[in-house]
Amino acid sequence: MPFAWKKILKKNNKTVKIPPERMPKHIAIIMDGNGRWAAQRGLPRTAGHHAGMAALRRTIRAANDLGIKVLTVYAFSTENWNRPAAEVDFLMRLPSEFLRTDLPELVAKNVKVMMSGSYEGLPQHTIEAVNEAINKTANNTGMILNFALNYGSRAEIVKAVREISQAVAAGSLQVDEINEEMISNHLYTAGLPDPDLLIRPSGEIRLSNFLLWQLAYAELWFVDIYWPDFTREHLLAAIEAFSQRDRRFGAIKL
Ligand code: FPP
Repeated sequence: MPFAWKKILKKNNKTVKIPPERMPKHIAIIMDGNGRWAAQRGLPRTAGHHAGMAALRRTIRAANDLGIKVLTVYAFSTENWNRPAAEVDFLMRLPSEFLRTDLPELVAKNVKVMMSGSYEGLPQHTIEAVNEAINKTANNTGMILNFALNYGSRAEIVKAVREISQAVAAGSLQVDEINEEMISNHLYTAGLPDPDLLIRPSGEIRLSNFLLWQLAYAELWFVDIYWPDFTREHLLAAIEAFSQRDRRFGAIKL
């Protein structure tokens, strides 16, 4: 059924066809390297974050065009609070800056905005910007754009354990009723499918406390460029590589 295949037009005009079942549904991205991108150019780190915002815009558009169902982007980790106050303040203003310009396009494209992370400690203006986007897109049915904001995977797992333990302590849950699905349902990402593909630019080859539970069976794709240089071509390359991976989920092919 070639007509059912996704056609992806590459820059060199070669068309790569990926069968729908080989497309990732959920892509997660660690948007890393903004600071180094800026340093390389003798620019302040803030310039790197602005360029990173442009890369995010390109990537959202490309992922949406390709029919990706969920795009999760690591926008601010719980460890990022350890940066100088001025940078933290700048990073906290990025959601409102981005959404002020881009929310109308997200609404028009039927994108649904979500957030995975803790509201605790976020400035009020950040919460308001994110909540406005969540509320204005709540009924959208297209791609889910999930901002991992003030997110830390270990803290998320602790939160899940506490919530489940409270139910056990209250007598409403038996210990042997606890299963993987229940834990997933207590994570910030409850209701979302696990990512199939994790992309990390910048040359670092680690997970940095990102979606540790959810990435259990994800395919990992690392690329040696800084996030501000990430383009549609890199996304296509990652998806193409993903489509050729042999995913066995621990089983064997008979
Ligand atoms: C990591 O690079 C990046 C961040 C901590 C911020 C990510 C923010 C963006 C990509 C801008 C768009 C965000 C929103 C919310 C619209 P780094 O600063 O750690 O880079 P380095 O490792 O080279 O120093």
